[in-house]
Amino acid sequence: MPSKEVLVPVADPRRGVEALRPELDAAIARVVESGRYILGPEHDAFEEELSRYLGARHCVAVACGTDALELALLAVGCREGDEVVTAANAGFYTTAAAVMAGLSVRYADVDPSTLTVSVETIEAAMTGDTRAVVVTHLYGLLADVEPIAEACRERGVAMVEDCAQAAGARRGGRFAATFGDAAAFSFYPTKNLPALGDGGAVVTSDDAVAERVRSLRQYGWDAKYRVAQPNGRNSRLDEIQAAVLRARLPHLDAWNERRRSIAARYRHALPPDVGRLVSLEGEDYVAHLAVVLMGERDAARARLQAAGIGTDVHYPIPDHRQPLWGDALANLRLPVTERAAEQVLTLPCFPELTDKEVDRVCEALDEL
Ligand SMILES: Cc1ncc(COP(=O)(O)O)c(C=O)c1O
Repeated sequence: MPSKEVLVPVADPRRGVEALRPELDAAIARVVESGRYILGPEHDAFEEELSRYLGARHCVAVACGTDALELALLAVGCREGDEVVTAANAGFYTTAAAVMAGLSVRYADVDPSTLTVSVETIEAAMTGDTRAVVVTHLYGLLADVEPIAEACRERGVAMVEDCAQAAGARRGGRFAATFGDAAAFSFYPTKNLPALGDGGAVVTSDDAVAERVRSLRQYGWDAKYRVAQPNGRNSRLDEIQAAVLRARLPHLDAWNERRRSIAARYRHALPPDVGRLVSLEGEDYVAHLAVVLMGERDAARARLQAAGIGTDVHYPIPDHRQPLWGDALANLRLPVTERAAEQVLTLPCFPELTDKEVDRVCEALDEL
């Protein structure tokens, strides 16, 4: 089938800028005029506003989501050689962070209905050396995290939530980021709460964890020019990104609602014999990605492309199958994770999609 030009893009961060152009221009101009570009008033206000929104005691802004994961792991007490248990279907970010921190990674399989880890898969993977568990709220779906938190507490293991894809997800009024010892956010430009560049944050209600992240993100200082802990580095959110994020945070809930309604349209349009949308119906899914599981993924992708519908695959290679490991993990089998990597397909889902574009995707799904 000849491929047409893309009529409905899978992401388009520029539209998100245009939708809020005057506010963003004003926020950026304010910083440019201020003469404060790092750790100034915008940064402080953003930390305060995000922690208040989430109902957590602290937010410590950093340079990106991967740094947030690494600093969170160090701050909850992981030390070189310790073991971290996590999923292998979440794009290698946690693995990269753990490896940077000198930790070893053990992979847990995921639940076939949600593609997130469950207490069963986590408990099957934990060993006596496990020091922390990272739960990724993949695609914006708040994992069944309460029993995992309980199991971690019982064993004296730290739990970190990866909320990079789940900003604003909540259950019973409790936000993703408030179930564990610390949580990591990314503000990459396609995220639900996006910056105009890189950005991230560690969120925690533990005073000591927050204090350690504050020190680690700035050279390990406990006071200016006084280095008190190892593994420090420069990882700060700059004033321009903080000002942009402050302008956008008040819109997060409305944008998430729009994302959810688009995902719901796809759920209804997709013939059940073709595939199934990985999602929940309520506020615990913020539709960062609208992902379909389908047996004939590659054929469906080609047909959607021919219809002008942009798609992506999150993620095609499970962490334990990445080539950098060589044969080291060749015997590790994670059946649900491995099958999902061959079946997941991401559809266009962002707040500025027009109703007409959503109709077009639905028609193309219906014709699969
Ligand atoms: C689930 C998840 N974790 C971590 C990250 C890393 O964030 P960043 O790209 O800001 O380092 C991302 C996004 O890229 C992500 O989707």
